[in-house]
Amino acid sequence: MNYKKKPGFATLAIHAGQEPDPLTGAVTVPIYPTSTYVQQGIGENKGYEYSRVTNPTRTRLEENLAALEGGLAARVFASGMAAIHALVSTLKSGDHVVCGNDLYGGTPRLFNQVMSDFGLEFSYIDTTRAANIEKAIRKNTRMVYVETPTNPLMRLSDLGAISAICRRKKVDLVVDNTFMSPYFQQPLALGADLVVHSTTKFLNGHSDGLGGVVVCAKQEHADKLAFLQKASGAILSPFECWLVLRGVKTLAARMEIHDRNGRVVAYFLTKHKKVKSVLYPGLPGHPEHELAKRQMSGFGSMITFETGSLKNANKMLKRVRLCSFGESLGGVETLISHPATMTHAGLGEKARREIGITDGMVRISVGIEKVDDILEDLDQALTAI
Ligand SMILES: Cc1ncc(COP(=O)(O)O)c(C=O)c1O
Repeated sequence: MNYKKKPGFATLAIHAGQEPDPLTGAVTVPIYPTSTYVQQGIGENKGYEYSRVTNPTRTRLEENLAALEGGLAARVFASGMAAIHALVSTLKSGDHVVCGNDLYGGTPRLFNQVMSDFGLEFSYIDTTRAANIEKAIRKNTRMVYVETPTNPLMRLSDLGAISAICRRKKVDLVVDNTFMSPYFQQPLALGADLVVHSTTKFLNGHSDGLGGVVVCAKQEHADKLAFLQKASGAILSPFECWLVLRGVKTLAARMEIHDRNGRVVAYFLTKHKKVKSVLYPGLPGHPEHELAKRQMSGFGSMITFETGSLKNANKMLKRVRLCSFGESLGGVETLISHPATMTHAGLGEKARREIGITDGMVRISVGIEKVDDILEDLDQALTAI
């Protein structure tokens, strides 16, 4: 793109990496469903040799996502977990990672049940206090890995304070920015080194494809991850790259509505007599509400609330009609889930209890339907408890 001043986010989302096709003028990026490319001679090619290594549709998506997060480069993978796996595969046996203790359940499952067998060490701490991170960093610590807001407890970590510690200790800061998307939170601008997303969620936005990305601030990381795309091959297919490119064009518009609906639903839940408590950074009573106002430009649409028991949660989840009871988040449709038996089942009861995930907790990803319809559905389902 050739602009005099830096374009706004919504402009980047539609145009970065998405320039009209030079060959035909097509305004949407073509899908290149090819495994290989004809070469002009030995060592002579048009920049593409084999699609595990690079593919033009993937290149365009990587350019787009790097622009949205303000990074140097992005590398996309077959799922969010494949992206996180590639990221920790840049480490070596004996290296240590300091992690938040309230991550998406699949992340500690990968770390503890797969990567530990390759000699990586992981500690889990409360990252809402930056001082805890300083204490947890050891001589062999290479990475600090945080989600903010966390999943499902919606706690925030101060990325500016944590990145200052990481810079001083020469440790990379990785932020899983899936819940906020780059529209509401820009971790690289706050000093993080790497940003991870499950593109399955808000970036794609239509619940029709899995994907993951790592956005890098440094060339060294971008090169290592490009090597891992080639070496281990868990890359995103051209068609699914195209789905994300299509989805991301409306990211700014969708996030505005997600945020607006999220606020309305959160306040509605605080007033509902069947709801015991609501975890949402946009509420003044949230422990990091002030930080949320500083660090994010919106509060998003992820809300967790307490129904009081497994029985109550189940009753409610069985009654929803418009809201879809299922795994995942970030789609245009309102999705509602039960962390204790779904995303965080693998943690085990003891670990869940220690961090405060109860059997009565329900997590809602508020969609972009007419908000009155969402409220009506939640009300009839909650009233049945
Ligand atoms: C915050 C977060 N990070 C990572 C992942 C993993 O992404 P995927 O399901 O695309 O592998 C998820 C999945 O729910 C998630 O919620």
